[in-house]
Amino acid sequence: MSHEQIELVVASRNRKKSGELNDLLAPHGIHVRSVAEFPEVPEILEDGDSFAANAAKKACETAALIQHWVLAEDSGLCVDALGGAPGIFSARFSDPGATDERNNAKLIAELAQTPEERRGAHYVCHVAVADPSGQLRLTVEQRCRGRISHEPRGTSGFGYDPYFLIPEYHQTFGELGMTVKHAISHRARAMRQLVPRLLVTLGLALGEGIRSSEDASKRAAGRLGG
Ligand code: IMP
Repeated sequence: MSHEQIELVVASRNRKKSGELNDLLAPHGIHVRSVAEFPEVPEILEDGDSFAANAAKKACETAALIQHWVLAEDSGLCVDALGGAPGIFSARFSDPGATDERNNAKLIAELAQTPEERRGAHYVCHVAVADPSGQLRLTVEQRCRGRISHEPRGTSGFGYDPYFLIPEYHQTFGELGMTVKHAISHRARAMRQLVPRLLVTLGLALGEGIRSSEDASKRAAGRLGG
């Protein structure tokens, strides 16, 4: 089968994040659809205690509802001097209705007394893929190491990027732009690890005609042509 047929719904309403995932997956012939196309999917409560638990929950619950292959990603910033915070709370660090500006203001205030050499941090990206019956089929997790700068620099990316300094480049993700971010970010690394496995898993399943949970049941009952 050809890869053009591979469709994956991304379970994220963060347009910057799903835009990055689309940029990283499209060159591999994976057609990314947004969960926003499925109004029946509610906001899924991220109440897990790890990136892995939240990503799996988002992927499995969304897939079971819409009966499509779904990729969910839980990501965040872990700062050494803050004991790994904000971690899984990165999106809502400042308050439940947080904005990037308020999250960054809180981060910088909490690090006000932290000297240069103790401002190490990493981004984490945990990805979970569920099949149309809601079963978890693939997971990967990757990191990107950096340092938190004192001042915001650049406007590329989103979230904490204007403060996330890549020491090798002496520039933040905000300054480096998407070409470099797509080469070295936590999300780029996770997609590089995921894509070969995804193509095999999806290729095999779609090759067997399994596009939905109904197909999966028919296959189990031996009523689907291979
Ligand atoms: P999630 O949507 O619950 O996975 O939350 C992700 C949050 O982590 C975002 O809202 C950002 O605050 C932060 N984050 C994750 N990845 C990035 C990135 O690539 N750049 C900047 N911030 C990020």
